[in-house]
Amino acid sequence: MDRLHITGGTPLHGRIPVSGAKNSALKLMVACLLTDQPVELTNMPNLADTRFLAQLLETLGVEVYWPKGSSTCHLNAAELKSTIAPYEQVRKMRASFNVLGPLVARSGHATVSLPGGCAIGARPVDLHLQALEAMGADLRVEQGYVKAAAIHGLKGAHINFSTVSVGATEHAMLAATLAKGETILENAAREPEIEDLAQCLNSMGAQVTGAGTPVIRIKGAEALKGTVYPVMPDRIEAGTFAMAAAAAGGDVTLDGAPVAALGALISKLREAGVTVDGDEAASTLRIRRNGSALKAVSLSTQPHPGFPTDLQAQFMALVSLAEGTSIIRETIFENRFMHAPELSRLGADITVRGQEAVVKGVKQLTGAPVMATDLRASVSLVIAGLAAEGETVVNRIYHLDRGFERLEEKLGACGAKIVRRSGEEE
Ligand code: EPU
Repeated sequence: MDRLHITGGTPLHGRIPVSGAKNSALKLMVACLLTDQPVELTNMPNLADTRFLAQLLETLGVEVYWPKGSSTCHLNAAELKSTIAPYEQVRKMRASFNVLGPLVARSGHATVSLPGGCAIGARPVDLHLQALEAMGADLRVEQGYVKAAAIHGLKGAHINFSTVSVGATEHAMLAATLAKGETILENAAREPEIEDLAQCLNSMGAQVTGAGTPVIRIKGAEALKGTVYPVMPDRIEAGTFAMAAAAAGGDVTLDGAPVAALGALISKLREAGVTVDGDEAASTLRIRRNGSALKAVSLSTQPHPGFPTDLQAQFMALVSLAEGTSIIRETIFENRFMHAPELSRLGADITVRGQEAVVKGVKQLTGAPVMATDLRASVSLVIAGLAAEGETVVNRIYHLDRGFERLEEKLGACGAKIVRRSGEEE
């Protein structure tokens, strides 16, 4: 089992390239199921999650050509040989569930395991199922599997989501591209990854309008064609590095950063006293803090364009070193404060009360062994470790490998003292 050894206290100086977005790539990969022509995705992040989804697509019959280390992934779903997504694969990576709608749209039927809960919350899929049912799919849940059929194809529907859901919006969009007639999605999620998916689908011949607003319209097509499409840059990875630089101090420029997608974080970083210069045209984000104290900042996670839940843990690590008390509210997932007790092991003063964490800033964190619990929680411990005095050992970093490409190499290039070691946990 790999772990990271971090010796903190060194400011970061340099440039970091931003990789393709995991949460966009996963949905763009699924889109290949909608056409019998080749789909080529460029700027693909090499991650455990994207590699894992490639394996699931292969079991469905998709030809995948994605050499190790390459950022171009070729997918060809000319012929599907299975419409079954097994529990072992969906349980490990929830985004796999999104193959259900495209398989039904393309083949008329599919059997996909329910994903179950996960470390950050129950995460039901009722909204996904309601959307597919509204499009005419006949759904049955048997032995933990959703069996879906629409023998005569899906049909356009008017769907008003009761809760904003990224996954359900994307799932409905994917399925609706091959439905008969128009689908209207109201109270749709507005995340940049939704716009990326819409653009990719449109490059495949779909007619999706309104992505990025709460109302998305999709005019169904008889068939979609192949495409070559670049995955958008990862706003969560970029935001994470921005906070690493803010916490450790120094001067870091992120290259290929999705500046416009990071508005909520940028304003909170400035409120905390960090100097942030974003250049949208050049896609660069420069983060500087040279010795000045951090100020406490409160926030509440919200669907986009609000502050993203996927940056909440990292922000908590940052303000644990601020002057004053910050209140962090998590409104998207019910169990997303597991990093709080681990941050406390480094000396942070955090009290969790239901959906709120009260973070009283401390002058100094000190290194300790800590345990990674989920992807974003893990990287918050890396950030804290970079700012702490002494050595921090982050155990169980397979979580990190799900979503961060070459993390230690990228941070190491800016002077961070961070090494990966294998063997027993510490
Ligand atoms: N929800 C329901 N019913 C549904 C779907 C969602 O009640 O059918 C609830 C969820 O339980 C949650 C809220 O709605 O409380 C929002 O969930 P959403 O569906 O928006 O999340 P998701 O699509 O499952 C994606 C990202 C997450 C990210 C969230 C929110 C991917 C693969 N995952 O999840 O990313 O936190 O949107 O932005 O795109 C991560 O990368 O670490 C991660 C967890």
